[in-house]
Amino acid sequence: MTKEEKVTSEKVGIYPGSFDPITFGHLDIIERSSKMFDRLIVGVLCNKAKKPLFSAEERVRMIQSVTSHLDNVEVCSFDGLLVDFAKLEKASVIVRGLRAVTDFEYELQMAQTNRTMCPEIDTIFLTTNLSYAYLSSSIVREVAQYEGKISQFIPAQIVPLVEEKCRCPKD
Ligand code: PNS
Repeated sequence: MTKEEKVTSEKVGIYPGSFDPITFGHLDIIERSSKMFDRLIVGVLCNKAKKPLFSAEERVRMIQSVTSHLDNVEVCSFDGLLVDFAKLEKASVIVRGLRAVTDFEYELQMAQTNRTMCPEIDTIFLTTNLSYAYLSSSIVREVAQYEGKISQFIPAQIVPLVEEKCRCPKD
């Protein structure tokens, strides 16, 4: 098999999100879905309209540091439409996590929109590990802002970064 044939036969998945910051819930989805693909790309949306606390570069670096044990995981930022980014990366599957039924309506709307724009890319949903079903990046930011303990929500190596940023958000 030539290198080009190998690249085109690779099964590539995309796990997109804001990851502001990455939580144990996200990491669980990354670890599980990375086993389903030859390559899993974690796509960090650099959407200025959402006014993220962390820059896209900071979010990419945090995710890289907590996924360094996963050989087939790459982390990239993207802007614009997810399906365009997926096509650029030759991904055929979008992965999303479902925590509860409250996530479903928004997720279904996104999946149907993406499928209408790009029928050759499918969305799959993984149910979140029950231990993290309540967890979100915004909850982590809020707890950190009020100086609560966040080490049960996010990986140890990014705790100091998140604490510092949430306590002094202008830095
Ligand atoms: O972690 P989030 O904020 O729930 O992730 C949302 C994300 C990044 C997957 C979604 O906002 C997205 O795909 N944005 C890119 C713009 C786009 O493609 N919009 C059309 C699909 S609704």
